[in-house]
This record gives sequence, structure tokens and C-alpha cells, in this order.
Amino acid sequence: MSTSKNALLSTGSKGIDELLGGGVEKGVLTQIYGPFASGKTTLAMQIGLLNKGKVAYIDTEAGFSPERLKVMASSRGLNPEEVLQKFLLFEPENFREQGKIIARLKKIVDQRFSLVVVDSITAHYRVESNKQAGSTELSKQLQVLLWLARKYKIAVIVINQVFHDSTANVLRPIAEQTLGYKCKDILRLERLERPGVRIAVLERHRYKPEGGMVYFKITDKGIEDV
Ligand SMILES: Nc1ncnc2c1ncn2[C@@H]1O[C@H](COP(=O)(O)OP(=O)(O)OP(=O)(O)O)[C@@H](O)[C@H]1O
Ligand SMILES: [Mg+2]
Repeated sequence: MSTSKNALLSTGSKGIDELLGGGVEKGVLTQIYGPFASGKTTLAMQIGLLNKGKVAYIDTEAGFSPERLKVMASSRGLNPEEVLQKFLLFEPENFREQGKIIARLKKIVDQRFSLVVVDSITAHYRVESNKQAGSTELSKQLQVLLWLARKYKIAVIVINQVFHDSTANVLRPIAEQTLGYKCKDILRLERLERPGVRIAVLERHRYKPEGGMVYFKITDKGIEDV
């Protein structure tokens, strides 16, 4: 059996690691959600670049930047080309294609992988006209991702967008219920009024109390503690 150390992927931020009970858990789905420019993509790329093992990265929003990844790598004294080689990038153009790629991962992912990222799982979903069919398809995709997480004991990060709930006047995650059932750990990122400073809030965790938060900033290195 692997040690508990191997069961977690470090985020590279001491604060966020502690919030998550040591890092991102393997074997389950972790949801990271928040408004645009809150740091979701940076955090997911950083977890991939800092940990051993290959990364399957499904980019649905053209948010993944090899240039940015290389800067993050070299700022940390890592070889940018070697880091880039670890990432296997997929760019589905619609929700159905996204589903096909996730299904294909069953044949692609193996022991060499430590992380799968879907960034974001809901960008294509939210423009689906048939909401009922879309919701069923979303559940299916999450089911496959969960299967991958458990079978290969890898971390799966599902990035999610927000919408404005005008009744309660708050930002809520898209498809909150569907994702909530499958994602046992949920991290919310937020931008603050003070420029440059952001917060990560633990909304849900398998064994940690909810509601804890830490400050972080985005730099050339990626995500750093304040
Ligand atoms: N080298 C850098 N130094 C400081 N900040 C940076 C640097 N590179 C990018 N940023 C900042 O990071 C933020 C974007 O972060 P990121 O792309 O991770 O957000 P996101 O939550 O994925 O957003 P979206 O929902 O639009 O995909 C921007 O505010 C940008 O200014
Ligand atoms: Mg992004």
C-alpha cells in the first residue's frame, strides 16, 4: 500500500496544501471553481508541473498556455521543455467531443500519470441547448473521471466556472448539484479588492472542516503564499 505522502499531490503553496490536508487527494475528484482570472488554470498547471508523473490536460477554454507553463517552470529552476513534455494536451471543441476525449482517457491513462485536469468541465456544457441531455452527459463524464481516479489512484481536478445567482446575489458554481455529488473536495478561488491578493476557501473536504481559507498571490512562479 502506498504511504499517505504518495496519496497527495502538493500544490506548491504551503497554505493551500494545509487547507487541503496536505495536498490534492488521489483517487477522488477535486473541484476548483471561481470567477475568471482567479487563478484556477495557474493552480492546475502548477500542480501538474511540480509533481512526478504525466498530466492529461483537457483545455476547453484555450486557457492553457505553454509559454506561461515554461515561465513557471524556469522561475522554479526546472527545465521548461522537460516540464512541457509531461503534459498531454487535448482541446475539445464542444461538449460531445469533450465526452469522447474523457472516454478515450480510459485507454490512454496508465501508471505513468499522476493527474488529469478538465479545464473547465462546464464551458461547453453551459452552452448546450438541451439541458436535460447535457446534464446526463455531464454525469457520465464525471463517472468516467471518477473511474480513472480510482483505478489508477490519480488526482483528477475538475475546474468549474461560476454564474451570478440573482435571487441570493452570490456567485455559484455551475451544475452545483451534479458536480457536488461527485467532487468530494471543493476549493473556491476568489479575487479580492486589493489588487494581486486572492483567497482560496475550502468549501468541502472528505475529512477536513469546511470554511478554512488562505491568501495567495500569482507571480511568474505561479501560485505563491502571501
Ligand atoms: N507572470 C505573472 N505574474 C503575475 N500575475 C500573472 C502572471 N501571469 C498571469 N497572471 C495573472 O493570472 C491571472 C489569470 O490566472 P488564471 O488564468 O489561472 O485564472 P483562471 O481562474 O483560470 O481564469 P479563467 O476563468 O479566465 O480561465 C490573471 O489575472 C493574470 O494577470
Ligand atoms: Mg482558466
